Amino acid sequence: MSATQPQPMARPDREVVHITAEETHPVRLAVLRADTPTKEVAFPEDHAPGAVHLGVRVDGTLVATSTWIPRDAPDGTSPAVQLRGMATAGHLQGTGIGALLIAAGRDHARSIGAAVVWANARDRALAFYEREGFTVVGDGFVDATTQLPHHVVVSRL
Ligand SMILES: CC(C)(COP(=O)(O)OP(=O)(O)OC[C@H]1O[C@@H](n2cnc3c(N)ncnc32)[C@H](O)[C@@H]1OP(=O)(O)O)[C@@H](O)C(=O)NCCC(=O)NCCS
Repeated sequence: MSATQPQPMARPDREVVHITAEETHPVRLAVLRADTPTKEVAFPEDHAPGAVHLGVRVDGTLVATSTWIPRDAPDGTSPAVQLRGMATAGHLQGTGIGALLIAAGRDHARSIGAAVVWANARDRALAFYEREGFTVVGDGFVDATTQLPHHVVVSRL
């Protein structure tokens, strides 16, 4: 998010928290595996060196997850951080929780010296990423795990 855009409004009942890879599983299953051929919720990179899992708790309940993995961008930009597993519980989508996670993940990526944050984004979510300041790059592709159309999105830090 650029300095000219308003930051997501902080609300006392919404807390960005560090969580474990395993704590991401229920939200990943409900949100990211609802309509996919696989129900696998673990990612191979979940325990990669430097991988960080950020979530949002609303009144103590975990309602959103994201995973931030040190990994060069597809164009070779390094150091970089890949965002995976971005998900907000259905009943709270569109209420600013995803924006909170993007802001927190960007702060984390900056803190480890990353030049960019990037993701393989579902086409369905591209408008969200563009709204959050990401740029869509390259041709679309079908992700092997989900069988859904995707594009790479990149945000310079
Ligand atoms: C995509 C997703 C993570 C966004 O999280 P969220 O908590 O709903 O996002 P926010 O409420 O912070 O939305 C931020 C902004 O993007 C907009 N937005 C959110 N989802 C959008 C979408 N699918 N299309 C267009 N705009 C969208 C919101 O309206 C909001 O805009 P505003 O600030 O002008 O009101 C969430 O909708 C989700 O889990 N979707 C299903 C799973 C998914 O596709 N994950 C991404 C995998 S790559």
